[in-house]
Amino acid sequence: MQIIRVKDKHEGSLKAFEMIKEGIANGAKVLGLATGSTPEELYAEIRKSDLDFSEMISINLDEYVGLNEDDEQSYRTFMRQHLFDAKPFKESFVPNGKASDLEAEARHYDEIISTHPIDIQILGLGQNGHIGFNEPATPFDSTTHIVDLTESTINANKRFFDKVEDVPTKAVSMGIHSIFTAKEIILMAWGEAKADAVKAMVNGEITEEMPASILQKHENVVVIVDEEAASKL
Ligand code: F6R
Repeated sequence: MQIIRVKDKHEGSLKAFEMIKEGIANGAKVLGLATGSTPEELYAEIRKSDLDFSEMISINLDEYVGLNEDDEQSYRTFMRQHLFDAKPFKESFVPNGKASDLEAEARHYDEIISTHPIDIQILGLGQNGHIGFNEPATPFDSTTHIVDLTESTINANKRFFDKVEDVPTKAVSMGIHSIFTAKEIILMAWGEAKADAVKAMVNGEITEEMPASILQKHENVVVIVDEEAASKL
């Protein structure tokens, strides 16, 4: 695990941008993408850039269950607004949270990941150590699955909704094993609220209670943290 400490999220997002640019120059064809506030500035950098994704594939980590693709709060909408409309990929996969058979959708998503192995996976970090929506106690060998979101995650995400009751309680998420198959992982974390999770991920015991701790075992992980998120390292 390589740790890169930066002054703030602006500097960190530029660093992640440069790494992606270099990865693409070296042949990366499939990007694994995250939503949430962490990658927003990275996506803004990409939008301003001359990067061209028209021959590339993107695979998103997760989607809420029950929201239509075009729902204002769906992760598909988030990705359109922050990246896809400005920088279309040849194909962009986001789980279908409205699938009538969610188990079948999860298996289908795993097939997509095995057909298009992820070259560079972008990750944020939950305050409870989740990656994707793999909440504490998710098995390390999990593939794409349906998740019951924890209270901590629902509370953290309610800022995007009018009221907490509107936050979906389930999601479809790539599993920890699915994430682990990526050749390179870039995890970003900003702000004091992430400091405990960063510390446990980097220095703590590798345990399913702290999903991100498994990244200690991945051979190509870069963690980019601002001063506040790194404050407990
Ligand atoms: C989003 C995702 C989540 C977020 C995490 C941090 O696709 O998979 O794991 O990365 O919840 O969220 P933010 O970035 O909003 O702090």
